[in-house]
Order: sequence, then structure tokens, then C-alpha cells
Amino acid sequence: MTKKVFIIGGPNLGRLGQREPDIYGDTTWAQLETLCGQWSAELGFTTEFLQTDMEGELVGMIHQASDTADGIILNAAAYTHTSVAIRDAVAAADIPVVELHLTNPDAREPFRRNNLLADVVTAGIRGFGISGYRLALEGLAQLMEDRQSPD
Ligand code: DQA
Repeated sequence: MTKKVFIIGGPNLGRLGQREPDIYGDTTWAQLETLCGQWSAELGFTTEFLQTDMEGELVGMIHQASDTADGIILNAAAYTHTSVAIRDAVAAADIPVVELHLTNPDAREPFRRNNLLADVVTAGIRGFGISGYRLALEGLAQLMEDRQSPD
């Protein structure tokens, strides 16, 4: 059966392209959706591309993915550094979760070194900009395959 991946973005990612482009680049969230659609099609799976600025909605999206999909790529943005609710939702998800950051938060302001997700996610990609999404999709393809045939 075709695998399904949820790509979930947290606060302010909807403003990619216009938001601090010197840090996050010129690609918009809509353009990223198109790119991820193409990359996923090449890998043979479908994607659900979602973004919200609200913490509770992010929790709901993680639940929905856990109930209906095979993997998650999660850029929880600022909530990475603050949200116990999102940490708990990720910890409870029964599918692989790849944590993604466009930048490398550890190389930025000290408060971004506080990460409430790092020890509950399956894997992480950080600091590769937009192409990190391609790497995350490739990594997730491998993780989903390993899960299907653990030997
Ligand atoms: C981010 C890094 C976070 O620290 C920040 O709050 C974001 C984006 C990234 O993709 O680099 O909003 O998750």
C-alpha cells in the first residue's frame, strides 16, 4: 500500500519566503509544498502538508498523523523549545517522527538550545535549509521500510 507522510509546520513557517529571508531563505511555504510533493512522488509516497501557528492544532495534527499515516516530518519551529504538549504528542505517536529545522538551532541564540523534542523523535535533520526536507523524506522512506521488515 502507498505510504503516507504528514509534513507538519509550526508557528511562522507559513511566512517562509518573507520571514527573515537572510536566515530562512526565499522559498515560500507554498513552493515548499510543491517541492515536497515532487520529492515524495519520486519516492513513491503521498504527503499531507499542514501548517499552523497554534500549539493545540499542532498537537491535533500529530494525533491525526499517528492515526492515519506512516510517518511524520515535524518542524515545530519555536514550540520545539517550549512545548511539553507537543513533546507528549510526539512521544505517544506510534510512527517514525523526523524532527526538522531549516537552520541549526544549536548554532543560534542560546534559548534555541533548549529542545523538548530531541529525545522523543526518531531522527533529526537540521541546518540544510529547504533541501533538508528532501533528506528527511529520504530518511523517512528508509525508516518506514525498516519498520515494515525489521530484519
Ligand atoms: C526553526 C528554528 C526555530 O528555533 C525557530 O523558532 C523557527 C524555525 C528552523 O526551521 O530553523 O521558527 O524551527
